[in-house]
Amino acid sequence: MIYLDNAASTHPKPETVYAAVDRAVRTGGNPGRSGHRAAFDAAREVFEARAVVGEVLGASDPARVIFTLNATHSLNLALKGVLRRGDHVVTTVMEHNSVLRPLHRLEASGVETTLVAADREGHVDPAALEGAIRPNTRLVALCHASNVSGTLQDAEAVGAFCRRRGLLFLLDASQTAGAVPLDAEGLGVHLLAAPGHKGLLGPQGTGVLVLAAGVDLATVLEGGTGTHSEQRTMPDELPEGLEAGTLNTPGIAGLAAGARYLLDRGVADVRRAEEEILAYVLPELASIPGLLLYGPREPAARVAVVSFNLEGRDGAHVGFALDEAYGIAVRVGLHCAPDAHKALGSFPAGTVRASFGPFNTLQDAEALVRALRELARL
Ligand SMILES: Cc1ncc(COP(=O)(O)O)c(C=O)c1O
Repeated sequence: MIYLDNAASTHPKPETVYAAVDRAVRTGGNPGRSGHRAAFDAAREVFEARAVVGEVLGASDPARVIFTLNATHSLNLALKGVLRRGDHVVTTVMEHNSVLRPLHRLEASGVETTLVAADREGHVDPAALEGAIRPNTRLVALCHASNVSGTLQDAEAVGAFCRRRGLLFLLDASQTAGAVPLDAEGLGVHLLAAPGHKGLLGPQGTGVLVLAAGVDLATVLEGGTGTHSEQRTMPDELPEGLEAGTLNTPGIAGLAAGARYLLDRGVADVRRAEEEILAYVLPELASIPGLLLYGPREPAARVAVVSFNLEGRDGAHVGFALDEAYGIAVRVGLHCAPDAHKALGSFPAGTVRASFGPFNTLQDAEALVRALRELARL
């Protein structure tokens, strides 16, 4: 199978990821819960994981790398931990439902939201985001790269005005963490949410929320931490104050191995390889008669998430044919980002989405182009 669904979860993972998960399950030990060697070893493994994942994301304090189940969990912790009745949030139509749905829920408790529009390629103008600020704006939430069109947003400009205007900046780095060199501290990001199972190459069931120095969150989950057990309240210390319950130690061990792979290879090299694929695949796809391509045409303006439709064809049939006849795995539909499709002009049908990962080759992209040329002729 040619796997082109890396925007959902990367596959395959580096061999070291499988080995690390296996080792952690066999070793056992619940970090921070007991005083025996297995528990200490697990605690050390988890601490080291915070450091390497932080290094990939440009976060220098491992205690502020909070482990979660996925990006959705991270985004919920961030939004619900910050926002209170009367607060206003500026965000965009390009967001995933993991931002839009928590915000919708928060609107019922008196939080106000402004969704800033995007152009037909999915770009959101930072000046339009800044223009949406009100006296009660507390947070700007931005999807760094769209999981529909791949469009990269100008996080630097948004970070700069957030700093200037004293606003919190939440970056959804689900499609950029591990795929694009990131410097959370340099960008002035206060809250960075990322899945562990996409570009960071960890297993499913892993995610991170990175908090900048000085950012405090109210808790969303309370429970055991193995520390301050005499208290009814969650400990103030991080990371345990935001990590109630037993961690996914095997998943975190795998995530650390994924992060180490990225540090060894260099995220810049992953980015270079994916831009090379984009430089080939975008003009090729655009040249197929009847193929509608979404998002920017310049590789530098996007990540390797490529959405398209064959005119007059049901995307589900195209996806099915790619799988059945050509052994190519893609995803079809709305990709949990309905408003992005409205901006791009692909609502309500959605798109067929091919998303490349660090182990895809130019030959994989060529196979996709060949298959689509044939399907377009049928
Ligand atoms: C932009 C974006 N945000 C959030 C998410 C949610 O990620 P997860 O499935 O890890 O919760 C995704 C997943 O596709 C995404 O692409």
